[in-house]
Amino acid sequence: MLELRDVQVVFDGFRALDGVDLTVPEGELRFLIGPNGAGKTTLIDVITGLTRPAAGSVRFGEHDLVGRKEHQIVRLGVGRTFQTSVVFEELTVLENIDLAASFRRPLWSLARRRRGVSEAVEEALARTGLEELAERSAGVLSHGQRQWLEIGMLLAQRPKLLLLDEPVAGMSGDERQRTGELLTRIADDHTVIVVEHDMEFLRRHASTVTVLHEGRVLVEGSVEQVSADPRVQEVYLGRKASDAVGNRP
Ligand SMILES: Nc1ncnc2c1ncn2[C@@H]1O[C@H](COP(=O)(O)OP(=O)(O)OP(=O)(O)O)[C@@H](O)[C@H]1O
Ligand SMILES: [Mg+2]
Repeated sequence: MLELRDVQVVFDGFRALDGVDLTVPEGELRFLIGPNGAGKTTLIDVITGLTRPAAGSVRFGEHDLVGRKEHQIVRLGVGRTFQTSVVFEELTVLENIDLAASFRRPLWSLARRRRGVSEAVEEALARTGLEELAERSAGVLSHGQRQWLEIGMLLAQRPKLLLLDEPVAGMSGDERQRTGELLTRIADDHTVIVVEHDMEFLRRHASTVTVLHEGRVLVEGSVEQVSADPRVQEVYLGRKASDAVGNRP
């Protein structure tokens, strides 16, 4: 589904990505971890066309993504969330999802007056468990509900590959659990890459984990393999205890 080879990103002489190789098969729920500044968000930016790599290739199925515009990549079926929220607070939950869905519709269908709610929008509401909140304005949602709304907005665009940048940051234990279950369900019929630091969350929900460090893939394997790896322990050493040993903050 996704294959990155020797991807390099340079910002003013600084190598944010320094030769990343990454292969994610179709249908996988892949976790991406690494200390602050490791290059996780930059990697998502490269896949989604926000940042152009200085070298390397990014293949998504049959397509080479390097050099394509962001909206073209969305249309090929790659969707992402951002580390900071991008919902419209004054719109309702339903309106936000409907708007997101419209980004993938051709212009002529937007110009036509639409009746009712599209199937993609209904599905996104149901999957994220937001049906009851459909008519609420997004501004009153809890932090966790807002994250689910963003995932719903993404699903409404019917992506094949979803890239989620720290979707459980700031969530309560209950919300984390629900999000983990949601991600697992989404991975039933999508390929999903999730950036997340929290080791406890990984132990519960991750199968394969890729560890990035200083712009390179340090280790890849099961949660057990990765958390037992001395190299991983070393890069997390001296960081927040929650990162190193998996206690929730
Ligand atoms: N537009 C930019 N210009 C210059 N440097 C950048 C830019 N974007 C990212 N960087 C640098 O590239 C490195 C990787 O950043 P990135 O945001 O990808 O890290 P991250 O792994 O997502 O970290 P975090 O866990 O803090 O979100 C960092 O040193 C960052 O300061
Ligand atoms: Mg980041």
